[in-house]
Amino acid sequence: DPVKRAHTLRDLRAAAAKRVPRSVFDYVEGGADDEISLRRNRSAFERVEFSPRVLVGGEVSTGTTILGRPAALPLVLAPTGYTRMMHHLGEPAVAGAATQAGVPYTLSTMGTTAPEDLKGTDLWFQLYVWRDRGFTTDLIERARGAGYTALVLTVDTPVPGNRVRDVRNGLTLPPRLGIKTLLDGASKPRWWWHLLTTEPLRFATFDGDGSLAPSDIGTKMFDRNVTWADVSWLRETWGGPLVVKGIQSRHDAKRAAEAGADAVVLSNHGGRQLDRGPAPLELVAPVADEVGDRLEIYVDGGVRTGGDIAAAVGLGAKACLIGRPYLYGLMAGGERGVARAIAILREELERTMRLVGANSITDLDREKVRLRA
Ligand code: FNR
Repeated sequence: DPVKRAHTLRDLRAAAAKRVPRSVFDYVEGGADDEISLRRNRSAFERVEFSPRVLVGGEVSTGTTILGRPAALPLVLAPTGYTRMMHHLGEPAVAGAATQAGVPYTLSTMGTTAPEDLKGTDLWFQLYVWRDRGFTTDLIERARGAGYTALVLTVDTPVPGNRVRDVRNGLTLPPRLGIKTLLDGASKPRWWWHLLTTEPLRFATFDGDGSLAPSDIGTKMFDRNVTWADVSWLRETWGGPLVVKGIQSRHDAKRAAEAGADAVVLSNHGGRQLDRGPAPLELVAPVADEVGDRLEIYVDGGVRTGGDIAAAVGLGAKACLIGRPYLYGLMAGGERGVARAIAILREELERTMRLVGANSITDLDREKVRLRA
């Protein structure tokens, strides 16, 4: 059983690659253009240096709060589109594992499960603002009605990034049966069996117009004229906790605070949008200095170990988001795989905290974590 045997997220990733067609794995794994940001997101974590305190003693707790609600560790599962393509159980499997583990899960606007159909204790809803504002307001109302605890506005996607792997693979959503996919299917029979025998793959909240390239869907639907005025509009319309995801500068973090956001996610969309933007980890400390007293700061992109989470928190983040890591678990083994991914991160975080001499999340600070030049 590859899920049980997995000792690291790298192991889950390897198991995932064996389960799904190449074009699906590439859709998850890939970044935009030359994938420079994708690689830098990871390499930034290699700059981390811990300065441990020894002979500390006592018990370790990874518990914290996120947007004022208790969380078992400083972790949020990020929104990812079209999740039922990665595994037929899709978003409900991810939400189930997140709830069991005691961390929030964010449903994407591009999801394959309707907001009302998801069960969990701390569910966030990610919003893309659509050209059709009536439809946008509708989505917000549905999220509110279904008890979502936060709204996450993604702001790094005025147009879809240039995902070269998807173009080369000829990926469409839903996937089309071509010669290439059929040949690939022979080695991934279980995935294909589920695709052909379960409910047809489709976006849950809108009509995707048959079978389109992922980038065409965004180009058609998203409003590229979303501005800071819309953040204030959302602030009013939604009323609850508002998170702005995709902030990539100190300047914009400050604007988000001024617009009344409760939190920002420092993020380059996992390297899938603008290539060669800053590595989010490197923005954590400067942004914490700028607005750390006004809103919560989260960070994502390249978090692959519990040590990475400890580092981000030590530099000033309230929590990390993960995208690909839980999708590796999902592709490798459904809900159990996602649970395993979170458990690995939690165990690694706890071990790192002991080794660094931090008994609580608030003990992780810039005395104990720095970035080497
Ligand atoms: C994403 N991401 C994303 N973000 C968002 O706001 N709405 C979305 O629909 C999606 N869809 C999506 C699909 C897939 C397959 C991936 C990998 C990512 C970005 C995601 O929320 C998050 O910012 C990154 O995944 C973080 O980087 P890591 O953890 O994947 O390195």
